[in-house]
Amino acid sequence: MSTANDTRTKTVILASTIVAIALLHYLTPTESHTYHKLHIVLRKLYFLPPVMAAAWFGLRKACLTALVVSVLFVIHAFVDWPSNYMEQANQVGELAGFWLAAVVPGWLFDRQRTLLRQLAQANEETILGLVSALDLRERHTHYHSQRVRNYTELLATRHGLDQSTIREIGLGALLHDVGKIAVPDQILLKESRLSEAEWVEMRKHPEAGYRILKKIAFLKGAAEMVYSHHERYDGSGYPRGQKGDEIPLGARLFMVADVYDALTSQRPYKPPLSHEEAVQMIGEETNSHFDPAVVQTFMAIAPGDFRSIAERYRDTDSATPLQPAA
Ligand SMILES: [Fe+2]
Repeated sequence: MSTANDTRTKTVILASTIVAIALLHYLTPTESHTYHKLHIVLRKLYFLPPVMAAAWFGLRKACLTALVVSVLFVIHAFVDWPSNYMEQANQVGELAGFWLAAVVPGWLFDRQRTLLRQLAQANEETILGLVSALDLRERHTHYHSQRVRNYTELLATRHGLDQSTIREIGLGALLHDVGKIAVPDQILLKESRLSEAEWVEMRKHPEAGYRILKKIAFLKGAAEMVYSHHERYDGSGYPRGQKGDEIPLGARLFMVADVYDALTSQRPYKPPLSHEEAVQMIGEETNSHFDPAVVQTFMAIAPGDFRSIAERYRDTDSATPLQPAA
Protein backbone atom coordinates (compact mmCIF):
# COMPACT_ATOMS: atom_id res chain seq x y z
CA MET A 1 0.00 0.00 0.00
CA SER A 2 1.39 3.44 -0.86
CA THR A 3 1.98 5.97 1.93
CA ALA A 4 -0.83 8.25 0.66
CA ASN A 5 -3.31 5.34 0.50
CA ASP A 6 -2.20 4.14 3.94
CA THR A 7 -2.77 7.62 5.43
CA ARG A 8 -6.19 7.89 3.75
CA THR A 9 -7.27 4.47 5.06
CA LYS A 10 -6.16 5.28 8.62
CA THR A 11 -7.92 8.67 8.53
CA VAL A 12 -11.18 6.99 7.40
CA ILE A 13 -10.89 4.36 10.17
CA LEU A 14 -10.21 7.06 12.79
CA ALA A 15 -13.14 9.25 11.64
CA SER A 16 -15.47 6.22 11.51
CA THR A 17 -14.42 5.21 15.04
CA ILE A 18 -15.18 8.70 16.38
CA VAL A 19 -18.58 8.81 14.65
CA ALA A 20 -19.47 5.28 15.88
CA ILE A 21 -18.52 6.10 19.50
CA ALA A 22 -20.41 9.41 19.40
CA LEU A 23 -23.56 7.76 17.98
CA LEU A 24 -23.49 4.90 20.51
CA HIS A 25 -22.90 7.38 23.34
CA TYR A 26 -25.61 9.83 22.28
CA LEU A 27 -28.18 7.14 21.46
CA THR A 28 -27.77 5.24 24.74
CA PRO A 29 -30.22 6.84 27.22
CA THR A 30 -29.30 7.90 30.77
CA GLU A 31 -32.76 7.27 32.24
CA SER A 32 -32.80 3.70 33.57
CA HIS A 33 -29.95 2.59 35.85
CA THR A 34 -28.87 -0.22 33.47
CA TYR A 35 -28.75 2.08 30.43
CA HIS A 36 -26.92 4.72 32.40
CA LYS A 37 -24.18 2.22 33.34
CA LEU A 38 -23.82 1.31 29.64
CA HIS A 39 -23.76 5.02 28.76
CA ILE A 40 -20.86 5.57 31.19
CA VAL A 41 -18.94 2.60 29.76
CA LEU A 42 -19.43 3.93 26.22
CA ARG A 43 -18.08 7.37 27.07
CA LYS A 44 -14.78 5.74 28.13
CA LEU A 45 -14.35 4.71 24.48
CA TYR A 46 -13.59 8.36 23.66
CA PHE A 47 -10.08 7.66 24.99
CA LEU A 48 -9.48 5.38 22.01
CA PRO A 49 -9.37 7.88 19.06
CA PRO A 50 -6.64 10.15 20.57
CA VAL A 51 -4.44 7.08 21.23
CA MET A 52 -5.07 5.74 17.70
CA ALA A 53 -4.19 9.14 16.21
CA ALA A 54 -1.03 9.32 18.37
CA ALA A 55 0.14 5.89 17.16
CA TRP A 56 -0.66 6.49 13.50
CA PHE A 57 0.01 10.21 12.99
CA GLY A 58 1.88 11.63 16.00
CA LEU A 59 1.32 14.43 18.52
CA ARG A 60 -0.21 17.13 16.28
CA LYS A 61 -3.00 14.98 14.88
CA ALA A 62 -3.56 13.34 18.27
CA CYS A 63 -4.25 16.82 19.69
CA LEU A 64 -6.58 17.58 16.77
CA THR A 65 -8.44 14.33 17.48
CA ALA A 66 -8.66 15.20 21.20
CA LEU A 67 -10.17 18.56 20.16
CA VAL A 68 -12.84 16.86 18.00
CA VAL A 69 -13.65 14.38 20.78
CA SER A 70 -13.78 17.23 23.34
CA VAL A 71 -16.28 19.22 21.24
CA LEU A 72 -18.53 16.14 20.85
CA PHE A 73 -18.26 15.42 24.54
CA VAL A 74 -18.97 19.01 25.67
CA ILE A 75 -22.09 19.14 23.46
CA HIS A 76 -23.25 15.90 25.13
CA ALA A 77 -22.71 17.31 28.63
CA PHE A 78 -24.98 20.29 27.89
CA VAL A 79 -27.61 18.40 25.84
CA ASP A 80 -28.07 15.45 28.22
CA TRP A 81 -27.68 17.39 31.48
CA PRO A 82 -29.27 20.76 30.59
CA SER A 83 -29.54 22.20 34.10
CA ASN A 84 -27.38 19.89 36.18
CA TYR A 85 -24.23 22.01 36.67
CA MET A 86 -22.55 19.46 38.95
CA GLU A 87 -22.95 16.69 36.34
CA GLN A 88 -21.79 19.03 33.57
CA ALA A 89 -18.64 19.83 35.59
CA ASN A 90 -18.10 16.11 36.20
CA GLN A 91 -18.42 15.34 32.47
CA VAL A 92 -16.12 18.18 31.43
CA GLY A 93 -13.56 16.84 33.91
CA GLU A 94 -13.22 13.79 31.66
CA LEU A 95 -11.79 16.03 28.95
CA ALA A 96 -8.46 16.26 30.77
CA GLY A 97 -8.16 12.49 30.37
CA PHE A 98 -8.73 12.70 26.58
CA TRP A 99 -5.99 15.33 26.24
CA LEU A 100 -3.64 13.25 28.36
CA ALA A 101 -4.39 10.25 26.10
CA ALA A 102 -3.39 12.42 23.13
CA VAL A 103 -0.34 14.27 24.46
CA VAL A 104 1.60 11.52 26.28
CA PRO A 105 1.40 8.75 23.61
CA GLY A 106 1.71 11.40 20.84
CA TRP A 107 4.99 12.65 22.30
CA LEU A 108 6.28 9.09 22.86
CA PHE A 109 5.38 7.91 19.35
CA ASP A 110 6.96 11.03 17.79
CA ARG A 111 10.13 10.35 19.78
CA GLN A 112 10.15 6.72 18.64
CA ARG A 113 9.70 7.78 14.99
CA THR A 114 12.60 10.24 15.28
CA LEU A 115 14.86 7.54 16.75
CA LEU A 116 13.90 5.05 14.00
CA ARG A 117 14.56 7.71 11.34
CA GLN A 118 17.98 8.44 12.85
CA LEU A 119 18.76 4.71 12.96
CA ALA A 120 17.75 4.28 9.29
CA GLN A 121 19.86 7.32 8.35
CA ALA A 122 22.86 5.89 10.23
CA ASN A 123 22.41 2.53 8.42
CA GLU A 124 22.15 4.33 5.07
CA GLU A 125 25.29 6.40 5.69
CA THR A 126 27.27 3.34 6.84
CA ILE A 127 26.26 1.40 3.71
CA LEU A 128 27.07 4.38 1.45
CA GLY A 129 30.51 4.68 3.06
CA LEU A 130 31.23 0.98 2.49
CA VAL A 131 29.97 1.06 -1.11
CA SER A 132 31.90 4.22 -1.89
CA ALA A 133 35.10 2.57 -0.60
CA LEU A 134 34.43 -0.48 -2.82
CA ASP A 135 33.75 1.69 -5.89
CA LEU A 136 36.93 3.70 -5.28
CA ARG A 137 39.01 0.54 -4.90
CA GLU A 138 37.83 -1.06 -8.14
CA ARG A 139 36.79 1.79 -10.39
CA HIS A 140 38.31 4.97 -8.91
CA THR A 141 34.79 6.44 -8.89
CA HIS A 142 32.36 7.26 -6.11
CA TYR A 143 28.98 6.87 -7.67
CA HIS A 144 28.70 3.75 -9.87
CA SER A 145 26.77 1.78 -7.25
CA GLN A 146 24.54 4.73 -6.33
CA ARG A 147 23.62 5.33 -9.99
CA VAL A 148 22.86 1.61 -10.43
CA ARG A 149 20.75 1.64 -7.26
CA ASN A 150 18.70 4.59 -8.53
CA TYR A 151 18.30 3.11 -12.04
CA THR A 152 17.18 -0.19 -10.46
CA GLU A 153 14.70 1.59 -8.16
CA LEU A 154 13.35 3.53 -11.16
CA LEU A 155 12.81 0.25 -13.05
CA ALA A 156 11.24 -1.40 -9.97
CA THR A 157 8.86 1.56 -9.51
CA ARG A 158 7.74 1.47 -13.17
CA HIS A 159 7.44 -2.32 -12.91
CA GLY A 160 4.71 -1.71 -10.31
CA LEU A 161 6.46 -3.01 -7.16
CA ASP A 162 5.55 -1.76 -3.68
CA GLN A 163 7.65 0.68 -1.65
CA SER A 164 9.25 -1.81 0.75
CA THR A 165 10.23 -4.18 -2.10
CA ILE A 166 11.68 -1.25 -4.05
CA ARG A 167 13.79 -0.24 -1.04
CA GLU A 168 15.01 -3.83 -0.57
CA ILE A 169 15.88 -4.13 -4.27
CA GLY A 170 17.63 -0.74 -4.12
CA LEU A 171 19.84 -1.98 -1.27
CA GLY A 172 20.63 -5.15 -3.23
CA ALA A 173 21.67 -3.02 -6.22
CA LEU A 174 23.76 -0.72 -4.05
CA LEU A 175 25.60 -3.65 -2.45
CA HIS A 176 25.76 -5.93 -5.51
CA ASP A 177 29.56 -6.15 -5.57
CA VAL A 178 30.18 -6.18 -1.80
CA GLY A 179 31.62 -9.71 -2.19
CA LYS A 180 34.55 -8.25 -4.17
CA ILE A 181 36.01 -7.33 -0.80
CA ALA A 182 37.19 -10.99 -0.82
CA VAL A 183 38.82 -10.74 -4.28
CA PRO A 184 42.61 -10.07 -4.09
CA ASP A 185 43.88 -6.76 -5.56
CA GLN A 186 46.10 -8.54 -8.11
CA ILE A 187 42.96 -10.07 -9.66
CA LEU A 188 40.41 -7.29 -9.13
CA LEU A 189 42.72 -4.52 -10.37
CA LYS A 190 44.54 -6.50 -13.09
CA GLU A 191 44.51 -4.56 -16.37
CA SER A 192 45.29 -7.48 -18.69
CA ARG A 193 42.98 -10.44 -19.30
CA LEU A 194 42.30 -12.72 -16.35
CA SER A 195 43.51 -16.32 -16.51
CA GLU A 196 40.95 -19.13 -16.08
CA ALA A 197 42.11 -19.64 -12.46
CA GLU A 198 41.68 -15.91 -11.78
CA TRP A 199 38.18 -15.99 -13.28
CA VAL A 200 37.31 -18.82 -10.91
CA GLU A 201 38.33 -16.54 -8.01
CA MET A 202 36.45 -13.56 -9.46
CA ARG A 203 33.27 -15.60 -9.96
CA LYS A 204 33.13 -16.32 -6.23
CA HIS A 205 32.14 -12.72 -5.40
CA PRO A 206 28.32 -13.13 -5.67
CA GLU A 207 28.38 -15.96 -3.13
CA ALA A 208 30.83 -14.05 -0.90
CA GLY A 209 28.45 -11.04 -1.00
CA TYR A 210 25.51 -13.30 -0.15
CA ARG A 211 27.35 -14.75 2.84
CA ILE A 212 28.22 -11.27 4.14
CA LEU A 213 24.69 -9.83 3.80
CA LYS A 214 22.58 -12.80 4.90
CA LYS A 215 23.85 -12.33 8.45
CA ILE A 216 22.34 -8.82 8.57
CA ALA A 217 18.59 -9.02 9.30
CA PHE A 218 17.44 -6.02 7.22
CA LEU A 219 19.61 -7.09 4.24
CA LYS A 220 18.40 -10.70 3.91
CA GLY A 221 16.25 -9.92 0.82
CA ALA A 222 19.11 -7.96 -0.72
CA ALA A 223 21.43 -10.94 -0.06
CA GLU A 224 19.42 -13.21 -2.42
CA MET A 225 19.62 -10.57 -5.12
CA VAL A 226 23.37 -10.15 -4.66
CA TYR A 227 23.81 -13.94 -5.01
CA SER A 228 22.06 -13.83 -8.40
CA HIS A 229 23.36 -10.56 -9.87
CA HIS A 230 25.58 -12.28 -12.49
CA GLU A 231 22.98 -14.79 -13.65
CA ARG A 232 21.53 -14.44 -17.15
CA TYR A 233 17.94 -14.96 -18.28
CA ASP A 234 18.89 -17.89 -20.56
CA GLY A 235 20.74 -19.71 -17.74
CA SER A 236 24.27 -19.03 -19.04
CA GLY A 237 25.29 -16.83 -16.07
CA TYR A 238 27.02 -17.64 -12.79
CA PRO A 239 27.38 -18.85 -10.01
CA ARG A 240 24.34 -21.19 -10.11
CA GLY A 241 23.20 -20.98 -13.75
CA GLN A 242 19.70 -19.85 -12.71
CA LYS A 243 17.27 -19.37 -15.57
CA GLY A 244 14.20 -17.17 -16.22
CA ASP A 245 11.98 -16.68 -13.15
CA GLU A 246 14.38 -18.70 -10.97
CA ILE A 247 16.43 -15.48 -10.84
CA PRO A 248 14.97 -13.10 -8.21
CA LEU A 249 13.08 -10.22 -9.85
CA GLY A 250 15.37 -7.70 -8.13
CA ALA A 251 18.39 -9.25 -9.86
CA ARG A 252 16.58 -9.25 -13.24
CA LEU A 253 15.86 -5.53 -12.81
CA PHE A 254 19.42 -4.87 -11.63
CA MET A 255 20.97 -6.58 -14.70
CA VAL A 256 19.41 -4.01 -17.04
CA ALA A 257 20.34 -1.10 -14.76
CA ASP A 258 23.95 -2.28 -14.37
CA VAL A 259 24.53 -2.80 -18.10
CA TYR A 260 22.84 0.55 -18.87
CA ASP A 261 25.25 2.29 -16.47
CA ALA A 262 28.28 0.46 -17.91
CA LEU A 263 27.28 1.43 -21.47
CA THR A 264 26.49 5.09 -20.73
CA SER A 265 29.50 5.76 -18.45
CA GLN A 266 32.94 6.96 -19.49
CA ARG A 267 35.60 4.28 -18.96
CA PRO A 268 39.38 4.52 -19.60
CA TYR A 269 38.98 2.16 -22.56
CA LYS A 270 35.75 3.59 -24.11
CA PRO A 271 33.67 6.75 -24.49
CA PRO A 272 30.10 6.75 -23.08
CA LEU A 273 27.31 5.58 -25.40
CA SER A 274 24.16 7.68 -25.86
CA HIS A 275 20.89 6.63 -24.21
CA GLU A 276 19.51 5.51 -27.59
CA GLU A 277 22.60 3.35 -28.35
CA ALA A 278 22.39 1.74 -24.90
CA VAL A 279 18.66 1.05 -25.34
CA GLN A 280 19.36 -0.63 -28.68
CA MET A 281 22.16 -2.82 -27.27
CA ILE A 282 20.02 -3.88 -24.28
CA GLY A 283 17.12 -4.65 -26.65
CA GLU A 284 19.40 -6.95 -28.67
CA GLU A 285 20.11 -9.03 -25.53
CA THR A 286 16.46 -9.56 -24.55
CA ASN A 287 15.78 -13.23 -23.70
CA SER A 288 19.51 -14.09 -23.66
CA HIS A 289 20.78 -11.76 -20.90
CA PHE A 290 17.64 -9.88 -19.88
CA ASP A 291 14.04 -10.66 -18.85
CA PRO A 292 11.78 -9.46 -21.72
CA ALA A 293 9.20 -8.05 -19.25
CA VAL A 294 11.91 -5.94 -17.56
CA VAL A 295 13.23 -4.75 -20.95
CA GLN A 296 9.68 -3.72 -21.87
CA THR A 297 9.46 -1.65 -18.66
CA PHE A 298 12.92 -0.20 -19.37
CA MET A 299 11.99 0.82 -22.93
CA ALA A 300 8.87 2.66 -21.69
CA ILE A 301 10.85 5.00 -19.39
CA ALA A 302 11.60 8.49 -20.74
CA PRO A 303 15.34 9.17 -21.36
CA GLY A 304 15.14 12.27 -19.12
CA ASP A 305 14.39 10.08 -16.08
CA PHE A 306 17.69 8.23 -16.56
CA ARG A 307 19.54 11.46 -17.38
CA SER A 308 18.49 13.16 -14.14
CA ILE A 309 19.92 10.22 -12.12
CA ALA A 310 23.16 10.23 -14.19
CA GLU A 311 23.55 13.97 -13.59
CA ARG A 312 22.87 13.72 -9.87
CA TYR A 313 25.51 11.01 -9.42
CA ARG A 314 28.04 12.16 -12.02
CA ASP A 315 31.65 11.06 -11.35
CA THR A 316 33.34 14.39 -11.97
CA ASP A 317 35.98 14.34 -9.26
CA SER A 318 37.17 11.60 -6.93
CA ALA A 319 37.07 14.05 -4.01
CA THR A 320 33.36 14.83 -4.52
CA PRO A 321 31.54 14.45 -1.18
CA LEU A 322 28.99 11.66 -0.73
CA GLN A 323 25.30 12.39 -1.34
CA PRO A 324 22.68 10.24 0.34
CA ALA A 325 20.33 8.59 -2.23
CA ALA A 326 16.80 9.91 -2.68
FE1 LIG B 1 29.47 -8.34 -9.68
